[in-house]
Amino acid sequence: MPELLNRRLVLVTGKGGVGKTTVAAALGLRAAREGRRTIVCEVAERERLPALFGDTSIGHEERELAPGLFGISIDPERAKEEWLRYQLRSATLAGLLGHSRLFHYLTAAAPGLTELVTIGKVWELAQLQRKSAKASPYDLVIVDSPATGHGLAMLRAPRTFSEVARVGPVHRQAGKIHDFLADPGATGVLTVALPEEMPVSETLDLGERLHSEMGMDIGRIVVNQVLPERFTSAEAERLESVDGDLPAIRAALTEYRRARVQRAQLRRLRRSTDASVTTLPFLFTSSFEREQLEALAARL
Ligand SMILES: Nc1ncnc2c1ncn2[C@@H]1O[C@H](COP(=O)(O)OP(=O)(O)OP(=O)(O)O)[C@@H](O)[C@H]1O
Ligand SMILES: [Mg+2]
Repeated sequence: MPELLNRRLVLVTGKGGVGKTTVAAALGLRAAREGRRTIVCEVAERERLPALFGDTSIGHEERELAPGLFGISIDPERAKEEWLRYQLRSATLAGLLGHSRLFHYLTAAAPGLTELVTIGKVWELAQLQRKSAKASPYDLVIVDSPATGHGLAMLRAPRTFSEVARVGPVHRQAGKIHDFLADPGATGVLTVALPEEMPVSETLDLGERLHSEMGMDIGRIVVNQVLPERFTSAEAERLESVDGDLPAIRAALTEYRRARVQRAQLRRLRRSTDASVTTLPFLFTSSFEREQLEALAARL
């Protein structure tokens, strides 16, 4: 994990619902604890991140969630306005344009602009020289990326815009963002997966797409929600031989079999990837809060 945390930007990717927000937050806690001024960016506007820290909402503001750990929920409309302000170097003009119906009409018609300004905001957060002179730099920016398809669209946007614009400020700015993403010394990718057949296949597929479409490689795969191995196969055999239909035994055997399938998928993943693989345990809990995050952070 240290080599990943020493980058400026870590993209937490993966399918919907696998634990991206949870892992991004745990990683953020870990990085902040080690003394890095860290920010976790939520980009899908779900605001699940602040809830993990007992906060109701963060919005498009950089807010401290824990000592040294900040959070922001990037709002594409606000990011668009900031981007305009930067390009036009005039807050008044950007405000006027940002609120005009024509502008909304035009930008809605520009495919990928939302993705561009979103990843542009992430890039800005990761710069040591922030655009706004008041803003302090971060040692590490962690992005809780949108689920695979949208996540890839966001990563592709800078190159697309840079190619389409050909020359000028948009070309240069977008090109810089793409170069930053594609620079393995600056940007690392962590993919969250579940230890099941389809999720493992999808993770391998995501790795190939990241490589072919962006020239990026997954640095680490975190396999989340791994069940404990409570019984040996000999113990399972003995459980199977018990007479009578006892619910507790049935439950134990079901979990034993699921854990075994998970181990097989974990082995398949490890065989099929060059990325380092870390596991996180399934936490049997009804509420997921700071305490659970700390437990996961310690395991990362
Ligand atoms: N190790 C774990 N043990 C138990 N539950 C977990 C674990 N990791 C995540 N969860 C639970 O799984 C659910 C999904 O997690 P999370 O929201 O982090 O996923 P996500 O990938 O960000 O989802 P989405 O794609 O919808 O944003 C949450 O209810 C979370 O509390
Ligand atoms: Mg999420």
